[in-house]
Amino acid sequence: MRAMAIPSYGPVDQMKLIELPTPEPASHQVRVKVHASAVNPSEQKVATGSTKFLHGRNFPMVLGYDFSGVVDLVGAGVATVSQGDEVFGFLPYSGSNTLGAFAEYTVSTTSGLIRKPASVSHALAAAAATPAITALQSLRDLGRLPSGGRTLIIGASGGVGALGVGVAKKLGAEVVAVCATHAVDFVRGLGAEVVIDRKKEDPLRVAKGPFDVVFDAAAVSSWSAMRHLLGRGGVYVTTLPGPAIMFQLGLCLFTATRAKLVIVKNRADDLALLGRWLTEGLKVPIDSTVPVRDVVVGIKRLAAGGMRGRISVDVIGGF
Ligand SMILES: NC(=O)c1ccc[n+]([C@@H]2O[C@H](COP(=O)([O-])OP(=O)(O)OC[C@H]3O[C@@H](n4cnc5c(N)ncnc54)[C@H](OP(=O)(O)O)[C@@H]3O)[C@@H](O)[C@H]2O)c1
Repeated sequence: MRAMAIPSYGPVDQMKLIELPTPEPASHQVRVKVHASAVNPSEQKVATGSTKFLHGRNFPMVLGYDFSGVVDLVGAGVATVSQGDEVFGFLPYSGSNTLGAFAEYTVSTTSGLIRKPASVSHALAAAAATPAITALQSLRDLGRLPSGGRTLIIGASGGVGALGVGVAKKLGAEVVAVCATHAVDFVRGLGAEVVIDRKKEDPLRVAKGPFDVVFDAAAVSSWSAMRHLLGRGGVYVTTLPGPAIMFQLGLCLFTATRAKLVIVKNRADDLALLGRWLTEGLKVPIDSTVPVRDVVVGIKRLAAGGMRGRISVDVIGGF
């Protein structure tokens, strides 16, 4: 099969089109003919080696976490999907996954995918998977955002933040969103009640608390900086591990608010809920689309910033 792979850690430009053996699904796995994928910040991080402690050194490594496509072959013990089913989901962010979705075929466990609703395109399903599930597990599971509650979402024009606005609305919450000037109208269009232009105003001063959840999708702030905006029992959730959040996870145990770190997990139930929301019109903004042979252009575009949603990757027609 054809795949876009890196031969080692280094500049993302060294990702090249190569031929690889078509993978065989093990038990409880399925092989998927990939139609669409999407660009997440993780591809740049993995390619340059900043997460090599997690991903090991199994080269050539095919990147691409989100996928939507058609089940091509099922392994032993698979009962939830059959050959020919349209499915979508995301691959684990770990060294166990070296054959990603920037390839004609990928292999996934059944917990990492779900049947794609027929009315939802492969491009939208793939673009939604990681960001929407990250937002869902942050807001609902870690933040316990109640219906009728309030959330502040930082980085609302990016993949996770933009889906976070839609997910929070689905959970019945009021959304105050933070983004840069170029995205203010875009984020308002996603359903945020209040949008703070971070280039013109300091969200720490102008955001009117109390919030049930401060969701730092962009991972640019901290619990210490935001805690004055949280109500009693309120939760600050960030998306990136680092020394500050590790320290604050312990420190906050003695206070009325909490700091938490999301690590997104493959759960078929959550993907099923996302599938339902997609049929109900959950907005999945696509900033632009690149053919998979030019996925490096998409990875660099995301790294340059100025996004309005996700970059979609056309795999089925893109080699
Ligand atoms: N832990 C997990 O399980 C998990 C899962 C998924 C993603 N992540 C991580 O979550 C982060 C966000 O992912 P993503 O897909 O949303 O990335 P993205 O699409 O690149 O979006 C990030 C957004 O952050 C905003 N931003 C940049 N600098 C900012 C600042 N100083 N203040 C406020 N906002 C700022 C940008 O919007 P504006 O410039 O328009 O404000 C940008 O759109 C990444 O680091 C990713 O690796 C973690």
